[in-house]
Amino acid sequence: MYIIVFILSIIVFVYGDPGKAPLVQLNDGHTMPSIALGTWLGNSSTPPHGRIAPVGYNTEQAVMWALEAGYRHIDTAWSNHVEDQVGRAVKTVVDAYNLLHEVTTTPMICDAACYLKRFKKKIERSGSSMVLPVSRNELFITTKLWNDAHARSAVVPALRASLAQLQLSYVDLYLMHWPLGQFANGSYDSTHYLETWRGMMDAQARNLTRSIGVCNFNQVMLENIRVHKLRQPAVLQIEWNINLQQPGLLAYCRQHNITVMGYTPFGALMDKRRADSPTRIDDPLLTKMAAKYGKKVQQILLRYAVEMGVIPVPKSITSTRIFENIDIFDFKLEEADKWILRNFGRGFRSVPQLEWSDHPFYPFENMQEYPPTTTTASTTTASTTSTTVTTQASTPSTQQVISEVDINDTSARMNFRDIKI
Ligand SMILES: NC(=O)c1ccc[n+]([C@@H]2O[C@H](COP(=O)([O-])OP(=O)(O)OC[C@H]3O[C@@H](n4cnc5c(N)ncnc54)[C@H](OP(=O)(O)O)[C@@H]3O)[C@@H](O)[C@H]2O)c1
Repeated sequence: MYIIVFILSIIVFVYGDPGKAPLVQLNDGHTMPSIALGTWLGNSSTPPHGRIAPVGYNTEQAVMWALEAGYRHIDTAWSNHVEDQVGRAVKTVVDAYNLLHEVTTTPMICDAACYLKRFKKKIERSGSSMVLPVSRNELFITTKLWNDAHARSAVVPALRASLAQLQLSYVDLYLMHWPLGQFANGSYDSTHYLETWRGMMDAQARNLTRSIGVCNFNQVMLENIRVHKLRQPAVLQIEWNINLQQPGLLAYCRQHNITVMGYTPFGALMDKRRADSPTRIDDPLLTKMAAKYGKKVQQILLRYAVEMGVIPVPKSITSTRIFENIDIFDFKLEEADKWILRNFGRGFRSVPQLEWSDHPFYPFENMQEYPPTTTTASTTTASTTSTTVTTQASTPSTQQVISEVDINDTSARMNFRDIKI
C-alpha cells in the first residue's frame, strides 16, 4: 500500500490527472470537461422514488466515486442544498493532492504512512483503497444563483455564500439558474434578467468565478444579452435529451460560440411516474442500437449528447452507474444511428416548471400548444405517440427529417412574453 501511494504521488505530481473526458474550449478562453456529474437529488431511482433528502454523505460519496471514475466536472447549485457535501469531497481530494505535493517536494514533512493516517476516515467512507489526489486546477466546479437573489447587488453575496458552503475561493462556472426572480416567500420579483446578468458580470470581475453563464434561457433572452452588448454567456445549460433536442437553440449557440450543457440527459425515459414520456428506455430501436455498440442505452444517450455538441450532466448516486456514465469516450456513433436518435425528438419537456408559467420571464413554450401538431405523417418508431415526425426512422439518411419544432425558432414560438429594458 505504501509503495502504491508513493508511486501515485510521483505520477500525480509530475503529470497531474486530467480525468477521462476531453476538454472543450469556452468563448472566454477557459476549458471545461465534456461531461459533468449532476448533484440534484430531485430525481432518484431509490425508493421512495422522487426527491431524497440532501443529508448525510450520499452526494459527498457520489462525488468521490465520480472523481475516481475520471469526472473532473461537478455540477451543483445553491438550491440543491448539497454544496456543503460537494465542498467536503473536493476538499478531501485537493488536500490529498497538496499533501502529496509536499511529500514529493519535501520528503521529510510527511510520508506515505502520514498520508494514509490523515485520510483514513475518508478512505473508509469512500469504500476505496485510497483517496484519489486531484489538484484544484484539474477540477471544474459549477454552481448556480438561485431565483431569490436576482437584484444586481444580491448576486455577489449569493456567490460568496455558495463559496463558503463549497469551501472554495472561486468556482469555475457560475450560472444564473433561471431567468425569473422570486422573493424568499415565492412571490414574483420582476427584476429583469439583464440586471441580474450585470450582477453575474460583477462576480466575474471580482474573480469569484472564472466563467459565467445562464440556464433555462430561450433564444430571445440570449439575443437580448447580445444586443445590449453585455458579456456573452460562456455556457447555456438547458434540459436536453432525445425527447427534447431543441435544434434551433443549439444552432443559435453554435453560431454565437456558447457552449451548451444538457441537464436531465435521460429525460423522462426511465421515470415510471411519467407514462406520458414519448420514448421509454426499453424502446426496441434503442436497445438494438445499444447491443450493436456493446453499451447500455443510457451510454448511447450520453454519447449522442456529446456528439451533438452538448455536455451531458447525468446525476447518479450509485457507484456502478457513475462509472458507466463516463465510459462513453471509447466509441463513436455512426451517422445513420444519429439520424435515428434525432428522430426521437418530440419537444417533450420533463422539467417545464409550469407553476411559474405566469411569470413575465417564464422561458418555455406555452404548454397548451405543445407538442406542436401541425405536421402530419406516420412513423414506424416503436416509441412515438406524436404526429410530428415526417420520416421513417428506418431510412434516416435519405430523407429530410423534421423531428422537432423548436420553440426557440421565433417562427414556431407563440405567446412568449419578453420585456425589453
Ligand atoms: N439548470 C437546471 O435548471 C437543472 C434542472 C434539473 C437538473 N439539473 C442538473 O442536471 C442533473 C441531472 O438531471 P436529473 O437529475 O434531473 O436527471 P438525470 O440525470 O437524467 O437522471 C437521474 C436519474 O437517472 C438514474 N440514473 C443515472 N444514471 C443511470 C444509469 N446509468 N442507469 C440507470 N439509471 C441511471 C439516477 O438514479 P440514481 O441516482 O438513484 O443512481 C436518477 O434516478 C441534476 O442532478 C442537476 O445537476 C439542472
